[in-house]
Amino acid sequence: MTNHEIKINFTEFDKVTELNATYQWLCAEAVKALQTSHSPYSKFRVGAALLLESGRIILGSNQENVAYPSGLCAERVALFNWGANYPGDPIIAMAVTAHTDEFRLTKPVASCGACLQVMAEYEKKQKSGVDYILFCADGPVWLIKGVESFLPFLFFEDRLIG
Ligand code: THU
Repeated sequence: MTNHEIKINFTEFDKVTELNATYQWLCAEAVKALQTSHSPYSKFRVGAALLLESGRIILGSNQENVAYPSGLCAERVALFNWGANYPGDPIIAMAVTAHTDEFRLTKPVASCGACLQVMAEYEKKQKSGVDYILFCADGPVWLIKGVESFLPFLFFEDRLIG
């Protein structure tokens, strides 16, 4: 029997103003994306903003549905928009934030497993990692470099070919 330990690495900042100017701007765009959240069921707004190599920004927000599983997270709304419309323009960074009127959010929201799997696919497709910036109004900022930092046991296609 062998025990393994995997360490993950991320950087924490006290607030968004400690980031570089570009990432501060990207965070402001993620906050803007909260406005289009359609979340009447959870009342939990999530906003995502992708920064592309060209400087273009793509926004996404969570879109819920009365048939609950039909809804989609903010991250995948943004990422699928990228995949469908700008696949030749690599993603440099993605900022994600959340807001609810129900309680005070003091920790950033980490993306769900399905969103991480989609991020992994696109990092692989564009052959470069993405900087993930997770933040909320009343908490710290987490900067995570590359999806494998979140999810070391990712499912990649090499598992399909034995
Ligand atoms: N949600 C996201 O948009 N992104 C995440 O990373 C986690 C959860 C959404 C899904 C649902 O609309 C609401 O947040 C509550 O789960």
